[in-house]
Amino acid sequence: SAAEKGGYDYFMLKEIAEQPKAVADTLLGRIDAEGALTLDEVRIPHSVLREADKVVIVACGTAFHAGLIAKYAIEHWTRMPCEVELASEFRYRDPILDPRTLVIAISQSGETMDTLMALRHAREQGAKVLAICNTNGSTIPRESDAVLYTHAGPEVAVASTKAFLTQLVACYLVALYLGQLRGTKWGDEIRAVIRDLSRIAGEVERVLETMEPVRALARTLADKRTVLFLGRHVGYPVALEGALKLKELAYMHAEGFAAGELKHGPIALIEEDLPVVVVVPSPRGRSVLHGKIVSNIQEIRARGARTIVIAEEGDEAVVPYADHLVRIPATPTLLQPLVATVPLQVFACELATARGNEVDQPRNLAKSVTVE
Ligand code: G6P
Repeated sequence: SAAEKGGYDYFMLKEIAEQPKAVADTLLGRIDAEGALTLDEVRIPHSVLREADKVVIVACGTAFHAGLIAKYAIEHWTRMPCEVELASEFRYRDPILDPRTLVIAISQSGETMDTLMALRHAREQGAKVLAICNTNGSTIPRESDAVLYTHAGPEVAVASTKAFLTQLVACYLVALYLGQLRGTKWGDEIRAVIRDLSRIAGEVERVLETMEPVRALARTLADKRTVLFLGRHVGYPVALEGALKLKELAYMHAEGFAAGELKHGPIALIEEDLPVVVVVPSPRGRSVLHGKIVSNIQEIRARGARTIVIAEEGDEAVVPYADHLVRIPATPTLLQPLVATVPLQVFACELATARGNEVDQPRNLAKSVTVE
């Protein structure tokens, strides 16, 4: 009913709008006044978390993209090696697991069969499993050694939005917590990240307030057949997520690429007027990558692409090559997906509407897939 949708036409719109609160709720009570992580709810002994020598993340769909981003954070902040694998592939390749492996299973519903089978396999090999989940008491947390709930609130639309942002926040919390316990890289950088994480809900809100031009742009693209997405570093999984949203909702051919791979194949796809969304890393942190992405935008534009550039406020280098420019607030590099994903969700939702598709219940998809 309209009341359930809180005055929005679709649950997806409501859930996109709820993201600042969802993100704040995931952080609630998990960072103390001194800026230290308090995740005692993660009931895996500290000694196990200290002695773990590897992290393996398993998940499906949008949750898998959260896992891909988590890898950057975990390796950077903890210096533990981290693998990310599609849950449906995981157990069939006989993965190397032992009691020093920390497996993180990410799932909104907590009922995805592929993810459940992956974690069962991991536990059989003696690995410890931490679930990151949005649904209290669901199967995946019940079968895991510990759980960190995302507290996004119920997500009704099939295409995941607020669950994704909160999965990211939960992954950052776990990465920072592991770093804190293990005493790796604990210093000013981490303190600054925690401070910025505490403020991120407000930044997500600011992005939401500036989405009207993104909607207007989406409506002009309703008759396109293909949209490409490019990103680099954590912007690469963001590009994958942007493409997935467009497939799920707009039923359009969409692909995400790592921008550095462009020259190894995908650039052959560029043709006159092809929309290409580019997620640009901050010009501050990874400035080398920033320069490379700006060259990519230049290259594809020279070949006729219509460039839709998502770039930090104050990034002037992209301006000459952007047909459409979407501004996002400056964040530390690793946190950028929390703000960069939002315009891509809005873009896909609006394109779906413009094409007359059922936004909350896309064809052929289910909210939770309980078969392998
Ligand atoms: C389904 C949904 C996706 C979701 C995936 C994983 O395919 O349509 O939106 O990302 O399952 O779901 P989970 O509940 O495990 O996060």
